[in-house]
Amino acid sequence: MRFSITYNEWIPKEQKLRESLCTLGNGYIATRGAAEECVADKIHYPGTYLAGGFDRAVTKIADKDIENEDFVNFPNWLCLKFRPEGGEWIDLDQMIIHHFQQVLDMKKGLLIRSFTVEDKKGRKTSIKSSRLVSMREKHLAAIAWELTAENWSGKGEICSALDGRVINGGVPRYSDLESHHLEPKYTQEQKDNSILLVVETKQSNLVMAQACSTNVYLNGKEAPMQLNINQEKNYIEQMISFDLDEGHQYKVEKIVSIYSSRDRAITEPSHEACMAIERTGRFEEIAFRHFQAYERLWHKADIGIIDGDKNQLLIRLHIFHILQTVSLNTIGLDVGVPARGLHGEAYRGHIFWDELYIFPYLNLRFPEISRSLLKYRFFRLKEARYIASERGKNGALFPWQSGSNGREESQKMHLNPESGNWIPDNTHLQSHINSAIAYNIWHYYLATEDQHFLSFFGTEIFCSIACFWASMAEYNEAKERYEIKGVVGPDEYHTAYPGSENHGLDNNAYTNVMAAWVLQKAIVILDLIEKSRKRELLKELDISNTEIEKWKEISEKIYVPFLEDGIIAQFDGYDKLEEFPWEDYSKKYGDIHRLDRILEKEGDDVNKYKASKQADLLMLFYLFTPSDIKEIFQKLGYEFNDSMIYKNVQYYNERTSHGSTLSRLVFSWIQLRYDKEKSWQDFEQVLISDFEDIQGGTTAEGIHLGAMAGSLDLVQRGFLGIEVNDKALWINPDIPEHIKKITLRIKYRKHWISISANHHTLKISFEEGWSNMVHIGVIDKMYEFKQGEVREFSISSSSPVE
Ligand code: BGC
Repeated sequence: MRFSITYNEWIPKEQKLRESLCTLGNGYIATRGAAEECVADKIHYPGTYLAGGFDRAVTKIADKDIENEDFVNFPNWLCLKFRPEGGEWIDLDQMIIHHFQQVLDMKKGLLIRSFTVEDKKGRKTSIKSSRLVSMREKHLAAIAWELTAENWSGKGEICSALDGRVINGGVPRYSDLESHHLEPKYTQEQKDNSILLVVETKQSNLVMAQACSTNVYLNGKEAPMQLNINQEKNYIEQMISFDLDEGHQYKVEKIVSIYSSRDRAITEPSHEACMAIERTGRFEEIAFRHFQAYERLWHKADIGIIDGDKNQLLIRLHIFHILQTVSLNTIGLDVGVPARGLHGEAYRGHIFWDELYIFPYLNLRFPEISRSLLKYRFFRLKEARYIASERGKNGALFPWQSGSNGREESQKMHLNPESGNWIPDNTHLQSHINSAIAYNIWHYYLATEDQHFLSFFGTEIFCSIACFWASMAEYNEAKERYEIKGVVGPDEYHTAYPGSENHGLDNNAYTNVMAAWVLQKAIVILDLIEKSRKRELLKELDISNTEIEKWKEISEKIYVPFLEDGIIAQFDGYDKLEEFPWEDYSKKYGDIHRLDRILEKEGDDVNKYKASKQADLLMLFYLFTPSDIKEIFQKLGYEFNDSMIYKNVQYYNERTSHGSTLSRLVFSWIQLRYDKEKSWQDFEQVLISDFEDIQGGTTAEGIHLGAMAGSLDLVQRGFLGIEVNDKALWINPDIPEHIKKITLRIKYRKHWISISANHHTLKISFEEGWSNMVHIGVIDKMYEFKQGEVREFSISSSSPVE
């Protein structure tokens, strides 16, 4: 089964996209799949990012001082060049290419690039480069070259460098903003000719040390070579010259160690980096441990789908990139999961609500990672309380975009690349992120039954969020219901009423229903944890019994706006908006997924129209099962029936531009129950969204992790029908006809369970766990599984095939 992506041609205009897709990381650090010999230019963008590596800088825009917190592009450790003495440095953009192949081997976490080039003097040289960022030893990265002078002999030169002269230049839209984040500290020659570069970020004073050794080998032994070390401000290189014989294969190995002042268990970054280089072995040894780590990861992480080859490969690509961004190395780093991975500078490495789409995959395989990511929120409660208080509210409001300390990091102004205008950005009014965090806590708990987390960390976050919603809800006497005003829903196109000076909208249906859910669940959770902890928390958070009664009342009386015929209005006043002429605009512009930008350029305003960027109200049907949603509406005293779901899907489908990769995912999910073919088409769109860069250039700036992880969740929860509720694990497959078989392994409440299903049979095996017995519901019946037990069920009848 395929685990690798192969590019057989050097196509300069695709390079930045490939760099994102071939990023290698280990949840601690990641480096784009740029060529070793290149520097940042129109074709290439080498970028190295550290989990949690942020720096703030101020820029004057339209006479305003705008401060942004950027995801720092740290020194480029890749730099490795070769030239025959007196010749040109090898450069694919300038030389004749006789052969080129680039392979991302996802099974081993290796990026392999092989090529043969010919210089102006007719000298042909072949290089096969293998690169890794160690999954086992998170501070190590390495490159090995197999270098052959194909038709010449003579002296050759290798330049191996650590380059701190880089800036944040990965996103053209941000080019007017301050992009210099690194201050040189020092460069140094170290023991055994290794080199050291130390930099510090300008504002956050984050120190990064990179140490490196480079050696040349022939037939397993060090080749005779001359080595000089050159240094300049923020840059250090090893210049190695050695003799090459025609046809012989030389091995060049560059081993790099990276430490930062964010690390734990260190004395000081440069000391640790140099010591790691002294202690480490050759490439093969590092690679061996790295491959073993991948083998262990894939055992848990893989999802097999048998269909055409391509979809399986894309599923693996998505798993791979989750693991490059967050892995076991992430645990305890005090970081969240950036929406665009550790793969580029788009959205500045910020953490949004996208966790909502990412956690379902992690919870059922790597709950330790989810726990660590949730603790990132816990440790930023102080700032979230401040944000709420600034709005005159109680409790905690987490920022729409979060970075280092949990301050609101959303841009105040953003550039419309279509028009060149800087526009005020009000997307930070998406307070619904608060409910996403609460939802994630609850679902982490359901998947793990981690009572300690819930009791100590989770409930405090949950109740602080509940307090915020209770203070946001205003009672409307006339409606006899509670309202939430001045917010923005997931559809970021609508941030204000047309022509209004005020920002935000009233009664966004998604926000209101989620707030009701949070308030109701907060009461459940308070009754779940130990009584003493409950008492402690209520005192600490100043939550009285009257407040809890208020939570109950609001949760039963929140207002949901309706249009006619069972269609829920996205927000109050949606009915007054104009219909958007979709066909005319499609004809005129072709691609209209960023309608907001097109309209702003035309001097119009997307706020005027019934046109959404992405699923908004429909998120409710994504997050809750039909029976859950029915119960929620019934509790609210609204009539609700199944047919309303499809009506709403149809209504909003016609009014959505899918300007976010998250949108198709949600549509695919919901349509699974109503229009399988349409659902499959959307699923395939989600699968290719980064691989084929369907949003026209955005993947080059970083992958879309929410959509990637969401596609996996579609397979596990959507197609296999895996559902974890407070009582048990349920499995109820509904496999699309395009897929023959699905196999995967999940961790449910400390029990490893492997599942495989085709259209006729479902096989469940309780492999191992902390107890000898586990309850699993299959379709509509509950079964008791003993450890080691394997059972098969006929899908059509749900009865065991025994
Ligand atoms: C989407 C948001 C998402 C963000 C980061 C935006 O384009 O509208 O929902 O959180 O991207 O992925």
